Order: sequence, then structure tokens, then C-alpha cells
Amino acid sequence: MAEIVIVADAEAAGDLAADAVLRRLSRATTPTWGVATGSTPLSTYRAIAARDHDLSGVRAFALDEYVGLPAGHPESYRAVLDRELVHPLGLNTEKVHVPDGSHEGLESAGERYEREIADAGGIEVQILGIGTDGHVGFNEPGSSLASRTRVKTLTEQTRQDNARFFDSPDDVPRHCVTQGLGTISRARHLILLAFGEGKAAAIAAAVEGPVTAAVPGSIIQLHPSVTVFVDEAAASRLAHADYYRHAYENKPRWQVL
Ligand code: PGA
Repeated sequence: MAEIVIVADAEAAGDLAADAVLRRLSRATTPTWGVATGSTPLSTYRAIAARDHDLSGVRAFALDEYVGLPAGHPESYRAVLDRELVHPLGLNTEKVHVPDGSHEGLESAGERYEREIADAGGIEVQILGIGTDGHVGFNEPGSSLASRTRVKTLTEQTRQDNARFFDSPDDVPRHCVTQGLGTISRARHLILLAFGEGKAAAIAAAVEGPVTAAVPGSIIQLHPSVTVFVDEAAASRLAHADYYRHAYENKPRWQVL
């Protein structure tokens, strides 16, 4: 079972997730970090930045990228990660990998990205958000549980959810290159974060529903090492919330992430 940690707010989750990420990276022979964009991971990034660790040796892999945004577009995930992660945390931008969403060579973008991850020795710890439709990365409902990095078509729901970052909803790209569910599942540890009531249904389905391509986040149930950090609102539809709290309060001291 994934460890479900219910906390007061995103800041508290960010502190705990920062501990877990730094612990994993410092113990890894090759420190490789799977990073996510969106609002959800920001409190974790802030908490890590505040700790002033030297992360210049860490190799990072983004989950996904939009297809077809011009190079340097402020909402391309390469630019977002530069702004929100690379500079504040002192990562080496040359060690931050993002799928290639440019139109040229798109057919091989997935394969090339898979090779980059494999050449780096795989991903040690992967940060994940979850979409209101249950997506992880940009693996929309229906994505194969075994999928690898490839081009996907975004749902209209995801385009609407992300329209807030663009001047007009029409500007949100229709396609992306995303790590597959099979790719994500190979990371050695997964940290899934979710905040707010809007994520409650997706979290309940991912944590307690059936494992199904209809809820891509449900892949966490097949992974041997997962921590889910949620605030009270995102946890509000979990049937076994009391048990998760009890298990966390009684966690054996040796059982660190
Ligand atoms: P959000 O997005 O962090 O901006 O809520 C999560 C996701 O779509 O995976």
C-alpha cells in the first residue's frame, strides 16, 4: 500500500516531501530526480530551496512538455522549470532533461527521452501531481498502464485547467510529449502530492479505486514504494483516512522513506 500522509496544508506537505526527496537523492549512487510542473510541487521546491543544499550534481527529468510551443515560450515546461526549479534550487540547467516538444523529430522524441533516462541509470525519486481527471504526467484517462514516453492528445478538461497560464484558452497546445505510465512506474520511489477539494475525487480514485487506465494515477497501487501527501481537502473523499492517519502516527522509527 502507498503511504498516505494527510497534513494541514501544502506547506506542511512541501516540508515533508522536501525531506524525502533530499534523503533519497543523497543516498543514491546516481542522484536522478523526476520533477513535475504545475502548482502542486511548488511548496516542495520552496522547501528544498530554503534548505540550501548543493543540488548542482543532480540530474533531473521533467515528466512532460507541450508540443509546438516556440523555444523560450514562457509556458513551455522547459521555461517553467528554469524559472521555478533550476534557478531557485541551484540545479545545473544542462542536467535538466525535458522531452523535446518541437515538431521536428517528434516521432522519435519519446524514444530519445527513454534512452536519456536509461543512460542516467533510471529515476531515483519522482514527484507527481494529479489532474482533476486522474492524469499523471499528461497520461490522460485511457493511457496504457505500460506506456512509455510518447505524444499524447490533451483532454479538453486538461486544456481548460491549464488555460490560466496562457493569454487565451485557445493558446493551450493540443498535444504533449509525456513520460508514460510504464516509465513513471520504473522510478524507484514515487511522491504524489495533491491539494484542495478539486483533487479529492481523483485522489480517492487513485488511492482506493480499482487499478485502471481510466484513472492513470491508480498506477501507484502497483508500485512498491509510494508516498502520497495530501491536505485535508484533497483527503476528504478517502474512505480509510482514519487508518492512514493512525498508520502514520504509529510509523516505526526505522521505517523512513
Ligand atoms: P496542478 O496540475 O499541479 O497545476 O494542479 C497537476 C496535474 O495536472 O498533474
